[in-house]
Amino acid sequence: MSSSGDDLFTRDDPIFENKELLEINHLPEEGRIVGRDDEIAELANAVNPAIFGQSPSNLLIYGKTGTGKSLCAKYISERLVRVAEDEGITSAFAYVDCAQDNTETQAVQTIAHTLNEPAVTDVRIPDKGLSTSTYYKRLWTVLDAQYDVALVILDEVDKLDDDDILMQLSRAGEAGKLESCKIGVIGISNKIKYKDRLDERVKSSLCEREFVFPPYDATQLRDIMEARSDAFKDGVLEPSVIPRAAALAAREHGDARKAIDILRYAGEIAQSEGHETVREEYVVQARERAETDRFRELIRGSTPHSRYVLQALAVLSLNTPDEDGFRTTRIYDVYEEICRQEGSDPLSLRRVRDLLKEHAFLDILEQTRRSGGSAEGSYTEHQLLEDPEVVRTVLVETDEP
Ligand SMILES: Nc1ncnc2c1ncn2[C@@H]1O[C@H](COP(=O)(O)OP(=O)(O)O)[C@@H](O)[C@H]1O
Ligand SMILES: [Mg+2]
Repeated sequence: MSSSGDDLFTRDDPIFENKELLEINHLPEEGRIVGRDDEIAELANAVNPAIFGQSPSNLLIYGKTGTGKSLCAKYISERLVRVAEDEGITSAFAYVDCAQDNTETQAVQTIAHTLNEPAVTDVRIPDKGLSTSTYYKRLWTVLDAQYDVALVILDEVDKLDDDDILMQLSRAGEAGKLESCKIGVIGISNKIKYKDRLDERVKSSLCEREFVFPPYDATQLRDIMEARSDAFKDGVLEPSVIPRAAALAAREHGDARKAIDILRYAGEIAQSEGHETVREEYVVQARERAETDRFRELIRGSTPHSRYVLQALAVLSLNTPDEDGFRTTRIYDVYEEICRQEGSDPLSLRRVRDLLKEHAFLDILEQTRRSGGSAEGSYTEHQLLEDPEVVRTVLVETDEP
């Protein structure tokens, strides 16, 4: 083989110029945040006191997935730290993904670890091994030693298994835990009902200001994607691709994450087909892939029976598309049938009820209490929130060893 050309590998990506722009954790610059000017201005207003070294309001941000909550919370925190610095105020923010750090101890550890500069504080924050209260003590020490103000973003805060941390953080000042540092908490949740389950005292301190992020419409989704179209090489995106992707994502509650995923996948499909442009027809395939990938990720690590239960609900949904909810006992019948086919002993009705509840917690399905009149009493109906076709595809494929 001549040294001038090894043609086994493609050296030049024919589709993507700057693919990072479409990666899920990419934080866009200001000019690329579309359609959230009002929300950003209101968030800024709520945390504004921090710039003078005063307590920012604690906030709660609600909204469906992909409405820009995490993005705007991080963006506003970064901006705040920069502007405060100009004013001679030392501040920082810590971001906690509560779906990952779902215990109080893990969450405090993450906050303390993020904010601590050991060279300044002489404090050590080990990954594990300390009691929760020791982590708190070290956190308070770190905060007072380093900062005038700190913001803590608790993303997907409803995933915490315990709300004590909200109490601790939002009341650290009043409780005398902190001498000089002020702290502001930004809670984020996809669940509009999250607040209802909070203890009154936590509620009143955490929810000083509340924001609801509405879904994006097709035009906004189009703008969001346009603002990142330089992820692709010039002339590669056919003009109908973005409008089509926007229309699809708008139909599914205006999820910007899905829109961006669809765009990235459409590019990858063009790549693997060896085609020089991204065509509109790839968008439909890309959407299916985005759905199945997301769902696969969601149920990764779940037990076989937890999957059979979902499969049962998917079967019912596909067989009777007109019905929008199924009672536990009906799901159980189909579940037993699936167990028989799989050669596995069915779990009790009660365990199946628990598994359904777990799926509801992950927003895979929705549960509704219904009253069947005096003769029947009340019962629960379950409805898949995912596309049943997607659920079945993923469960059937993972079924095979
Ligand atoms: N207004 C927007 N402008 C540009 N990109 C956005 C906008 N809103 C969301 N995105 C992008 O969409 C994806 C999902 O947004 P995210 O903030 O994670 O949503 P949420 O936290 O509400 O689920 C991210 O990649 C984010 O960068
Ligand atoms: Mg988020």
